[in-house]
Amino acid sequence: MDNKERQERKEACPLKHVAFIMDGNGRWAKKRGMPREFGHKHGAEVFDKIMRYCYEVGIGAATFYVFSTENWKRPKKEVDAIMRLLSQYLDDCKRQIKDYNARFIFLGDKAIFTEKIRKKMYEVEEMSKDNEYIVNLALNYGGRDEIAYAANKLIAEGKTNITEEDISRCVYTCESPDVDMIVRTGGDLRISNFLLWQSAYAELYFTDKLWPDFTTDDVDAVVENFKQRKRRFGGV
Ligand code: FPP
Repeated sequence: MDNKERQERKEACPLKHVAFIMDGNGRWAKKRGMPREFGHKHGAEVFDKIMRYCYEVGIGAATFYVFSTENWKRPKKEVDAIMRLLSQYLDDCKRQIKDYNARFIFLGDKAIFTEKIRKKMYEVEEMSKDNEYIVNLALNYGGRDEIAYAANKLIAEGKTNITEEDISRCVYTCESPDVDMIVRTGGDLRISNFLLWQSAYAELYFTDKLWPDFTTDDVDAVVENFKQRKRRFGGV
């Protein structure tokens, strides 16, 4: 797709920023008698497909909840497997950055990752910084942690009278428009500490489908569903 077509699709697409809680990898694997890591591997492939498809349909920014501040509590074997997938994915990103047209931004405190992964994250952010399609990957991310991070940033700036705009400028998603729709797979009806600040007026979309079963048709269904929502932002 050339730039002109992308711009046309972007203007026509009502959904400017969509966010995904990619839940259900573990159950998907269990149903197949496989270890949870097998589900994450498929989940990573589905993530890549959905991330590219969101670009095709004209979505301006897509955010994916990959690993939360709480996910470190999982068994070491599972955490290590997710870190390996992440490391491989970052290598793929570096190789394919020109094809993607995606600007990768990592939401969350990078300090906790190994130096090798951290370095790759910074490289991918730097290499993709001029691309127009924003892809936020929430890694070591927590919504409450993010609000505290923004508050500390403002204190460091010497701010004493903090406004909503100040916080919006200091959260990790500051490069993205407001979140229009949060999609959660896996059947649970909760937000799980995801985009707490940004979800104030976001539409919510829950599906029982497990993340590895999520398809591009489901993205079409999300866009169609969003078109039916009447957004009032507290007005009439
Ligand atoms: C939630 O499913 C999923 C996660 C905590 C990890 C998400 C990771 C991926 C999609 C793969 C890694 C992606 C990249 C980009 C490297 P769950 O394990 O909680 O599933 P369950 O609710 O069925 O147990």
